[in-house]
Amino acid sequence: MGREVASAFGRWFVINDSKVNPSLYAVADLNKEALKWFNSVPTCKLLTENYQDLLECPEIDVVYVAVPHNMHEKIYIDVLNSGKDLLAEKPFGIDLGSAERIVKVIKSSGQFVRCSSEFPFFPGAQRVYKVAKSGEIGRILEVRSGFHHGSDLDSSKAANWKRQSKTCGEIGVMGDLGMHVCHVPFRLGFEPRSVYAQLQKGYPERPGGACDTWDNAMLHAWIDVDGAEPVPMRLEMKRMAPGETDTWFIEVLGTDGGARFSTKEPRTLWQFSRGIEQEWRRVDLGFDTPFKTITGGIFEPGFPDILMQMWAAFFAEREGHLNECFGCVTPSEALLSHRLFAAAVQSQQLNQVIEIT
Ligand SMILES: NC(=O)c1ccc[n+]([C@@H]2O[C@H](COP(=O)([O-])OP(=O)(O)OC[C@H]3O[C@@H](n4cnc5c(N)ncnc54)[C@H](O)[C@@H]3O)[C@@H](O)[C@H]2O)c1
Repeated sequence: MGREVASAFGRWFVINDSKVNPSLYAVADLNKEALKWFNSVPTCKLLTENYQDLLECPEIDVVYVAVPHNMHEKIYIDVLNSGKDLLAEKPFGIDLGSAERIVKVIKSSGQFVRCSSEFPFFPGAQRVYKVAKSGEIGRILEVRSGFHHGSDLDSSKAANWKRQSKTCGEIGVMGDLGMHVCHVPFRLGFEPRSVYAQLQKGYPERPGGACDTWDNAMLHAWIDVDGAEPVPMRLEMKRMAPGETDTWFIEVLGTDGGARFSTKEPRTLWQFSRGIEQEWRRVDLGFDTPFKTITGGIFEPGFPDILMQMWAAFFAEREGHLNECFGCVTPSEALLSHRLFAAAVQSQQLNQVIEIT
């Protein structure tokens, strides 16, 4: 993920009228091979195995932390105590207690902190968000948001830190993919008040050791929307989804309209409307990203583009001019996701619906 950030900063000049001009100044990684790659980044002046060196460096304003989940709390808090701003990674602490402690330090430090989630910056995702917010789709009937990966179907994939609860967290796949799935619904105000979870484990053994994390999660939640009847919201996070490489999707359906977007069709928005006849309209989108760039409007965006858009939102909000643009995940949204995931683990254990307080 660090290399992706270097790539985004390295071509920052494509953003029109950016009020900030970030550059990658330093990188810390315990792994010498991972560090060596950054020698190719001309702006990078410091490569170190000790992240404390970054925190002592006056040239650095913002630190991006992408480390295994068991390291989040310690490093995030060290960053905040050093007086630097933070773009954190999901799941924002290994569990709910950890997220609560991080949020406490954010509040006392006053530093600007957001959490990474890039898929909502696809133009299609932005359009679903706008349709859902418009108030023009009648009574909302259902919400579905998901992220499907398939690489864990391969039993020869190694037992790395993401497949062990002590490093990935007891929430497993929810910690890995859940923030991506919650960002848009939470921003729409769709806060789950209860959840029933179906969690599935993957292979118990992989090359390199035992694995004990949840690999697939289906969360069936109730949300309240505008004081109307409760609405079912289904959140799907899967590392074992046959046929899926990296599919993020969102769908919001109401009595009069709705919209659906999936990264499987990155330039397609499906929009539902109900008139005399019911209609699903296929809109061919172009490069209509929230932060405008030099790229022509007819072209299609990809992962590096939306990652850059997310960073543009981070810096714009940090500078106080996000205006009407969509912002990155806030610490309170990250905390809410942990409340949901903790309730989901409890739901699985008890095979019951759990109220989320
Ligand atoms: N936003 C996204 O799309 C996205 C995608 C993948 C991963 N992630 C998140 O990014 C984080 C890292 O995941 P990853 O897939 O990049 O993992 P990774 O294992 O590929 O990389 C983690 C790196 O952290 C380094 N590291 C570990 N402890 C360290 C320490 N104390 N000091 C310095 N470096 C240390 C490791 O050497 C390694 O290079 C996780 O929180 C994960 O959930 C986000």
